[in-house]
Amino acid sequence: MAFTEDEIKAKVQDGYIIESVEEMTEGYRKSLIVQLTVQADTELISAPAYWMAARHAPSTNTQVSAHAIIQDELAHANIAYRLLEDLGVSREKLVYDRAPHEFKHPYGFDQPLDNWAELVVANGFYDRAGITLLSDVYRNTSYGPLKRALVKIDMEETFHLRHGEVWMRRLSKAGGEAKEMLQRAVDWMFPMTIEWFGLPDELKRHSGQLDYRLKGMTNDQLRQTWMASTVPLCESIGISVPAHFDEANQRYELDYPFPCRYDAAAKHWLFDEGEISWDEVFERWKGRGPMNEEFVESIRRSRSQVATWLN
Ligand SMILES: [Fe+2]
Ligand SMILES: [Fe+2]
Repeated sequence: MAFTEDEIKAKVQDGYIIESVEEMTEGYRKSLIVQLTVQADTELISAPAYWMAARHAPSTNTQVSAHAIIQDELAHANIAYRLLEDLGVSREKLVYDRAPHEFKHPYGFDQPLDNWAELVVANGFYDRAGITLLSDVYRNTSYGPLKRALVKIDMEETFHLRHGEVWMRRLSKAGGEAKEMLQRAVDWMFPMTIEWFGLPDELKRHSGQLDYRLKGMTNDQLRQTWMASTVPLCESIGISVPAHFDEANQRYELDYPFPCRYDAAAKHWLFDEGEISWDEVFERWKGRGPMNEEFVESIRRSRSQVATWLN
C-alpha cells in the first residue's frame, strides 16, 4: 500500500514500523539511504583507521582485542551495506566505484591514529559517539530491519567502548609519558568528536530524519549525551577536557570557540583564532582529511589484481 509523504510521516510518528521498501515513499527511502550510507561508511573506514593503530598494540592479548574490534567494524559495515541493497542501492558500487572523497564517514576518521593512546581514545570517544547515535536510532527508528540489526551492533560497540575506557584509566594511572600521550590524544580528539555531531540545533535546517522517525534526538541533544559520559570519565582519571557542566543551565558547556579551525598536520585545534563559520567547517570536511585516500584504497587495493587472476 502506498502512503503519501504526509501520511507516512503521521503514521511513523504514531509508532508505525516500516518493514519493506514497497511501503516507503520516495522521501522516506532517500532519507533512510542517506542515514545508512553514513552509518556503513563510518563502520567501514573505522577499520583501516583502527588497523593503522593496532600495530602499536603492546602485547599479543591487546593485538587480539584490537583486531577483534576491527573485525566487528567490518561486520557492522557489511550489515549496513546489506540493508542498503534492500533499498535498491548497489553495495558493490558504494564500496568500489566512489572516489575516496565521496565517502560519508566523519572527518575524524580521516585522521591518522599514530599510537596506542590514540587508539584507546578513539575507542573511548568515537565508539562512544557511535553508541550515542546508534542507540538513539535503535530506540526511535521506524525501519524494522535496522532496529533488529542494531541489537548485535550495540553489544559489540559496548565492548569497543569498554576497551577504550579500561585502557584510558590504565594509561592515566601509569602517569609520566603514558599519561602525557593520553592527554595529547584527548586534546585533539575531544573537539573532533564534538564537531562530529554537526550543526547546532539553532542553525540546523529542517531534518527529514526526525520527520520520518529515523532518529529521535537532535544534534545538540546527542552532543550533550556524549559529553555527559565523556566529561566525567576524563575528570575521574585526571585528564582535562575543554568542557564543564554548567549548574545554572544544567548542561555541558564548551570552553573553546565552536566551531574552530583545525591544523590536521599538527593535530592541533586553533582555539586562539576564535570561532569560524560552519561553511568553513563544511569546506574542510568536503576536502577530507590526510588519510582519506589511503584508508579507502587500503580496503579495496587487492580487488582488481585478484579479479585478473580469476578471469
Ligand atoms: Fe561499529
Ligand atoms: Fe566500534
